[in-house]
Amino acid sequence: MSKGVRVIAVISRKGGCGKSTLVRGLASAAVARGERVTVFDTDSSQSIYGWMKVAKQLGNWNDRAEVIHTYDPEEITARLDAIYAEPPHDHLVLIDTFGGSSEALDDVVLQAHLIVAPVRPGRGDYLETMQTLMWRERLKGRVDDPASVPEYRVVINAVSAEPSATERQGIEQIFQTMPAIEEPMMERKAYKQVDAEGLLGEIRDSTRKGIVQNHLTAALQEMEAILELFEDAMLTETEAV
Ligand SMILES: Nc1ncnc2c1ncn2[C@@H]1O[C@H](COP(=O)(O)OP(=O)(O)OP(=O)(O)O)[C@@H](O)[C@H]1O
Ligand SMILES: [Mg+2]
Repeated sequence: MSKGVRVIAVISRKGGCGKSTLVRGLASAAVARGERVTVFDTDSSQSIYGWMKVAKQLGNWNDRAEVIHTYDPEEITARLDAIYAEPPHDHLVLIDTFGGSSEALDDVVLQAHLIVAPVRPGRGDYLETMQTLMWRERLKGRVDDPASVPEYRVVINAVSAEPSATERQGIEQIFQTMPAIEEPMMERKAYKQVDAEGLLGEIRDSTRKGIVQNHLTAALQEMEAILELFEDAMLTETEAV
């Protein structure tokens, strides 16, 4: 089934919760499925833009993916319009934002089909993610049509292979109080490698060590599962309209 253009905005006030890691992973998953990907990097530190440059140098990039560094909602609108004007094709658009969402983000977020936030099971992340949720609720009051505010999902991030009792409690609390998708992002060296080297599938294909390949494949499968759950959330929303 054709999926068309899907726009996901990754937003959380909490710095370091894994926004850019999630963007790199989702971009990798969509590229691995043969789709085109556009990432809007709205972070002044150009974390995703810089990542693409390094990945290209290392030969771990794919021409189906593109990163655009901009803070300008109008530029994002114009570029999105250009994508929508192309003949129908599968295209994942990701918007990476910096910690500390502000009103300036309103116009960016309203162009997305889904808002997502990674949340680490720990008190600091929890409260700031709640604030992000409330910011989204307040956004409904600032727009003409509250239904234009995208759906919201959280993904639990950096879960240990053997979670402590406290961590398990934190996970439970997130599931009970936030719209969390079932598949978490595990704490993985592979994500650090992606950060330093490029797209998951491309690194995997240029790696000769079997064990590292296996780790990268597991991470890619995790990201594919997460992307599918986000896509389900977007479908539910369209059907409800
Ligand atoms: N699941 C994970 N496994 C291993 N390392 C992770 C994971 N998630 C995030 N990290 C690491 O945590 C650090 C912060 O992650 P990241 O840069 O994605 O956060 P961020 O939310 O984009 O931060 P900022 O708000 O500054 O933009 C990075 O070094 C990243 O590699
Ligand atoms: Mg970031």
